[in-house]
Amino acid sequence: MKRVQYDRFGGPEQMYFGNYVPPPLERTQVRVKVKAVAINPLDWKLRQGAMKLIIGRTFPKGVGSDYAGTIEAAGEDVTNVNFGDDVFGTMDFKNAGAFAGSIVVDCRYLTRKPAQLSFSEAACLPIPATTAWAAIIDKAQARSGSRIFINGCSGAVGAFAVQLALARGATVSGSCGKAAMPKARAAGVDPVFNYADSSSYRSAGKFDAIFDTAGTMSVSEGLSMLNRGGVFIDINPTPGRVVRGMLSGRYKMAFATMGTEHLPEIAQFAHEGVLRPTIGLEKPFSEALTAIANAESGFRGPGRIVLAL
Ligand SMILES: NC(=O)c1ccc[n+]([C@@H]2O[C@H](COP(=O)([O-])OP(=O)(O)OC[C@H]3O[C@@H](n4cnc5c(N)ncnc54)[C@H](OP(=O)(O)O)[C@@H]3O)[C@@H](O)[C@H]2O)c1
Repeated sequence: MKRVQYDRFGGPEQMYFGNYVPPPLERTQVRVKVKAVAINPLDWKLRQGAMKLIIGRTFPKGVGSDYAGTIEAAGEDVTNVNFGDDVFGTMDFKNAGAFAGSIVVDCRYLTRKPAQLSFSEAACLPIPATTAWAAIIDKAQARSGSRIFINGCSGAVGAFAVQLALARGATVSGSCGKAAMPKARAAGVDPVFNYADSSSYRSAGKFDAIFDTAGTMSVSEGLSMLNRGGVFIDINPTPGRVVRGMLSGRYKMAFATMGTEHLPEIAQFAHEGVLRPTIGLEKPFSEALTAIANAESGFRGPGRIVLAL
């Protein structure tokens, strides 16, 4: 079967459709017949070599993390899903490669798909929703009465962060590009600022949490917008910022939880309509290379880019 992969770190031209044979199952692994995948910034960051010290130099490497599909085989110690279940999930980023006809993955990286979500909608959830959960529920501890500002409230992570914060009873304001402002307002963000004018939100008062999804705020800028006891949450790590996040009580780094730490809860929230994935563009898998290259070069529709298999 075909898999999007690469043989060296670099630009989009390194990707190709390789012939791929999924490995035999270990006891806790499942094989998933992939029906849809979603493109995350992580996919091209890994291929560019941004984490090469962590993921190593064994090639070929597969592209892609987030998927939805159907279990076509399960190892003997798998208990959370069964043969024939429709599932969605992600992969260990050190062994990425979801953009393939079938994948083998440890069962802790996936859970059952909510029935009312399509495969394409479910594939939009894992990395963005677990990251939003880590930021809004775990780090910001959003609750009724919290004031939260989300920089990049229209992106995949930002939109789920808005939905989680509002569900917790927080009030949410945020920033995004001009074109996305009406959609952000409709989602409950109030007020919405255009990020082209960052001075506008700097004077929007003090917040209990600032969540910078876009990675465009300086730490001092974020801290200056906080109430006493507030927290500034970042998801775009640099080595210096990771260290600072570990040492500071007010500046925190949040990460996607690639295992199923929160995936079943996210599935439940999607089932209840609290989390609502937005597909911006859906393309056939045969157009994966162009779709990834376009996303990487800055194309953003009104939601996630999905590839259907
Ligand atoms: N730490 C982790 O585990 C983790 C997990 C997931 C993602 N991330 C990182 O988080 C970032 C966002 O991911 P995503 O999937 O949400 O991406 P995305 O869907 O492309 O969203 C990007 C968001 O940033 C906004 N934006 C762009 N330029 C901006 C600016 N100058 N000021 C403020 N906002 C700006 C965009 O607004 P418009 O669309 O309106 O222009 C959009 O809301 C990526 O860098 C990704 O690598 C990290």
